[in-house]
Amino acid sequence: MRKALLLTAALATLPATATFAADLEEVVKARRGFYSLLGANMGALVSMVKGETDYDGAAAQGYADNLKLLTSYNMGHLYAPGTSNADMPGKTRALPAIWEDGAGVQEKGMAYVQAVEKLNEVAGLDKAELAKAVQELGGTCKGCHDDYRAKDF
Ligand code: HEC
Repeated sequence: MRKALLLTAALATLPATATFAADLEEVVKARRGFYSLLGANMGALVSMVKGETDYDGAAAQGYADNLKLLTSYNMGHLYAPGTSNADMPGKTRALPAIWEDGAGVQEKGMAYVQAVEKLNEVAGLDKAELAKAVQELGGTCKGCHDDYRAKDF
């Protein structure tokens, strides 16, 4: 009886531990997926600015809307402790500085949100306005990547 109970306890503990590690991998996947969404929308806008695709005001506004929608996503859970590139080498490029410098991240995040707001005001108007706003927004992406994202895995 006692043996059976111990076994039950062991089984109950084992999956919990395994799930925990798997959960952190899922968090990193979700985080990188979130940023891939930014990249996909930004990429489509950059392509219009460069003339690789024709400027289309409605489409540009659509990508700008997507980016704006994503600024309201609460990312707290995507930055679970234990998910930096020091904790999970090869899986993420998120530098430990993110967890150590909340104020700095906040500042970069605010600059980014403001640039998305600006983009939203002009994306559908014309290509020259779009180009300016996309360049500004790109600067805020880079601003955060320079400080908080490793160059390589
Ligand atoms: C506040 C900081 C911050 C801002 C602003 C930011 N990023 Fe990032 N981005 C990161 C971090 C950190 C990572 C690394 C995530 C990881 O590897 O876990 C990342 C990763 C990425 C990736 C790679 C995703 C992958 O598959 O690993 C892309 C693409 C990306 N960002 C695009 C953008 C674009 C485009 C913008 C602006 C429109 C932007 N980011 C704005 C912090 C930021």
